[in-house]
Amino acid sequence: MKASTILFIFGGSGDLTNRKLIPALYNLFLDNYLPEKFIVVGVGRTSFASDEEYRNKLWEGVNEFSRRKDELSLQWQNFANYVSYHELDLLADDTYQKINDWINSKAEEWKVQPTVIFYMAVAPQLVPPIAKKLSEHKLCTDCAKTRMVFEKPFGNDWQSAHELNQVLSSMFDEEQIFRIDHYLGKETVQNILAFRFANALFEPIWSNNYIDHVQITVAETVGVEDRGGYYEQAGALRDMVQNHILQLLCMIAMEPPVSFDANEIRNKKVDVLRALRKIDPEEVHAYAVRGQYSGGWMKGKAVNGYRQEKNVSPQSPVETFAAVKFFVDNWRWENVPFYVRTGKYMHEKTTLITIHFKKAPHYSFPSEAADTWRPNQLTFSIQPQMDIRIRFQAKKPGPEMILTPVDMVFNYAEAYAGQEPEAYETLLEDVIEGNPTLFMRADQVEAAWKVITPILEAWQKRMPVDIPNYAPDSWGPEDAEALIAKDGRFWTTVPPITKE
Ligand code: BG6
Repeated sequence: MKASTILFIFGGSGDLTNRKLIPALYNLFLDNYLPEKFIVVGVGRTSFASDEEYRNKLWEGVNEFSRRKDELSLQWQNFANYVSYHELDLLADDTYQKINDWINSKAEEWKVQPTVIFYMAVAPQLVPPIAKKLSEHKLCTDCAKTRMVFEKPFGNDWQSAHELNQVLSSMFDEEQIFRIDHYLGKETVQNILAFRFANALFEPIWSNNYIDHVQITVAETVGVEDRGGYYEQAGALRDMVQNHILQLLCMIAMEPPVSFDANEIRNKKVDVLRALRKIDPEEVHAYAVRGQYSGGWMKGKAVNGYRQEKNVSPQSPVETFAAVKFFVDNWRWENVPFYVRTGKYMHEKTTLITIHFKKAPHYSFPSEAADTWRPNQLTFSIQPQMDIRIRFQAKKPGPEMILTPVDMVFNYAEAYAGQEPEAYETLLEDVIEGNPTLFMRADQVEAAWKVITPILEAWQKRMPVDIPNYAPDSWGPEDAEALIAKDGRFWTTVPPITKE
């Protein structure tokens, strides 16, 4: 039986609660994953006339954002009864007194000391003072039964992340701290571990002996939308590369874990981050490219340039696109480039990891067969298409020997009839269970910041002169093509859609 649990959501009236947390919790409820004794307490500054009004707002969010579209209303009332809201100032002491009283009264009612989770769905500057209040009011003294969940951004650079970690570790145990990187909750991302380490087939070829290079593309078709204020402090490198993309890279590059123990897996990932070559600040231009979108047309709709977005400076140098060539300096990956790129207003929404193998050592086919001869390629389509495909050469039917690349495909929709859980469902379930495997440990976050620091510093020092430098609905600036083309390679874009 799962432990009785109280989940406090600080920032309970905010966007994250509405879009992600409540739809995820409701899906967990529908799938019978929540503990029998469970309540959600939203805490925030917005006032609602009653719990009912709050629940109605959440219901709208569920309808709009849940992955489930059918039969949503059947159980909503049963779930909503678990949810309440309190308008409180998170910087005031009596808020924490009240929280303490609620916990005690629930413990009495349930006749068991509940697990208590504090979810920080608040602006990053509120995190340290709230953590301090939780500590002062001794609300997290029971390490086994209290947890805190932190959203990104976790720091703005290595220094600030390090300071935040120090503040938190002076008050809490690392085991209580759950730092979310929602990419790690995605089914297709977790499956990389299964693919690599539950099969004997791939490991022997998983090194610089057989792999020529790796590419990771995280392309979005949206702009910065109404997040200009946040994005001005972030940019693509901080927003996507420091966290999501480096985590994907770690999944591809890590050594086989000895067990599925949370720290074992995280140790192996930290090893990759530590092995990532720190780019010499003078050399950053040869390894990293930044871009910013201009105004233009996105799928037939006129859109603003980044500098014209709300809360963005008209002279902003902030990048909405970043491409970087990384190297993992260890025995397995010596001299294998990992090209990564991410951008807003790209031509297609796609998250794609491609492993490009070296070509066959000897070409023995007739020369006229060579035109379409390609090295093998393994593709993980993370989203929105979800599949894994191995590309190999086949003989095209006919009297002549003509080679053509074909794909062997594993497709999630076909194999499992869809309905994979959303990342937040997996992650919330893990927090409730107290399983930190898919969460970022302090040293992981700091190691990732260290990797991108030289790029951040070089870009800060030298303001870009040529931005905006890419149009919406494109694949980013020309320099990004050049970054990979000068090595004699080219970016892989979207895999062909799997035929249903
Ligand atoms: C967030 C970034 O972490 O990830 C956003 O802050 C980005 O800018 C989002 O849009 C992408 O997430 P997903 O799951 O839609 O790929």
